[in-house]
Amino acid sequence: MTRSARFAPDGPLRGDYTPPPDKSISHRAALFAAMADEPVAVRNYLDSEDTHSTLNAVRTLGAAVEQGPDGEVTIRGVGLHAPLEATGGLLNVGNAGTLMRLLPGWLAGQPGGVWTLDGDESIRRRPVDRVAEPLRMMGATVEARDDRFPPLTVTGAQLTGIEYDLPVPSAQVKSCILIAGMFASGSTTVREGATSRDHTERMLRRARVPFERDGLRFTVRQVDELELDEVVVPGDPSSAAFVVAAAILASGSRVVIRDVGLNWTRTGFFRIAERMGAVVVGELEQPHADSDHEPVGELDVASGPLEGTVVEPDEVPLAIDELTLVALLGAHAEGETVVRGAEELRLKESDRIAGVVDGLRGLGADIEATLDGFVVRGDGSSLRGGTIDARGDHRMAMLGAVAGLASVEGVEVVGMDAAAVSYPGFERDLRALM
Ligand code: S3P
Repeated sequence: MTRSARFAPDGPLRGDYTPPPDKSISHRAALFAAMADEPVAVRNYLDSEDTHSTLNAVRTLGAAVEQGPDGEVTIRGVGLHAPLEATGGLLNVGNAGTLMRLLPGWLAGQPGGVWTLDGDESIRRRPVDRVAEPLRMMGATVEARDDRFPPLTVTGAQLTGIEYDLPVPSAQVKSCILIAGMFASGSTTVREGATSRDHTERMLRRARVPFERDGLRFTVRQVDELELDEVVVPGDPSSAAFVVAAAILASGSRVVIRDVGLNWTRTGFFRIAERMGAVVVGELEQPHADSDHEPVGELDVASGPLEGTVVEPDEVPLAIDELTLVALLGAHAEGETVVRGAEELRLKESDRIAGVVDGLRGLGADIEATLDGFVVRGDGSSLRGGTIDARGDHRMAMLGAVAGLASVEGVEVVGMDAAAVSYPGFERDLRALM
C-alpha cells in the first residue's frame, strides 16, 4: 500500500525536538547483545521496521528478546561460540541493508550452520559481493545471486584472520569483517580509505574485545566472550537532519534538538550546513576520538540565508545518508553546490542520485547528476513545489516532506509510508513543531 501526504509551507518551526533512537546503533546493539553470554539491557532501542527485522533475526538465531516500556529491550544472547539454536534456515532482513551486511560476519564464524539472508525488492537490488569476498577469504562459503545480489547464503566455517583493504568506504563492510574477526584465528585487520561511521569500533571497545585502531587501520583479535552489560542508544543524527534542514529552510525557525548523537563520524551534514551559512550550534565531537561511548548533546538550529559549497569525497561517508538534504539546501542557496565522490548513493535503498535529481528538478530545482554525485544551482529563492515519488525509500520520503515545507506551493509525497523503515513518527514530530 502506498500512501501520499502533502506538505505545505506553514510558517516557522519552533520548539524542542527529540529525534528517534539511532538506527545504526540499535542494529549493532541487538547483534552484539545476541552474541553476549549475559543478558544485555538496550535502552532507547529504535522502534522501526528495520530494527524489528534485526530483533526477529536474533530471535531466529536463539536469542530471547523482551520488549519493555519506553524502548527498553532486554536481550538474552546465545554467546559467541554456543551452537546457535537454528543451524540453518532463512533470515528475512526486510529493507535493512545494515542487517544484510553485518549479520553474515557472525554467521560466517559458525561452523556447521547454513543460513540464507533475503529481504524485500529494494534489498535484492543492493550488492552483497562486498561482504562475500572478505568472508570467503576468511574461509566461509558464501553464495549470492549472480555472485552479487541477495539472497545471500552463508555457510559457517572455522575462520582465519585476514588483512583487507576496503574497496569502497563502507561502515557496513568494515563492521562485517570486524565481527567475523572475533571468530577468526590470529588477527583480522581492515583498512579504510576514508573515515566512515565508527559505532562498531566503539561497541567492540565497550564489549572488551581486543581491538586497536591505528589511523584508518583497525585490528581485532579472536575472543571467547563479549562483556557488555547495557547499551544506551542516543537520538539519531540522520533522522534529526530532516528536522534540522526544515528549520534551516523555513524562515523564522528556531528548534532545539535534544539528546542527539554527536559522534564526529555522523555529524558531517551539520558541518556542511554550517559552512553553507546555516546556524547549527552545538558541541559536536572532535575527530578521531578512540572512544568506547557515544557522545550525546544538544543542537540549536535557526533559519538563515545559505550559500553553495563543495562536498569532497572524504566528507561523503560522514554525511552519506544526508547528502540528499545537502542537495535540497543547495537548491535554496545562492550559487553552486557540488557533491563529489558519492557514487555509493546509487546503491542505497534506491538510486539516490537519480531520485534526488529527478525529484528536486520536478519541484523546480536547477540540478544535474554527475557520475559520482550532483551539481545544484540556486539563487537563494524557494523551490516552486509539485510532486515527488519516494520510490520506496524512507529517506527520499522525508526529503520530500522537508522540500514541501520549504517550497512556495507545497509538495505531494507519493509513498510517504516508506518513512516507517527508520522513523515511524516523522510526520507527527514535524507537525508538532509547526
Ligand atoms: C550504515 C552505514 C552506511 C549508511 C547506512 C547505515 C551502518 O552504509 O548509508 O544507512 O549502519 O553501518 P555504508 O556503510 O554501506 O555506506
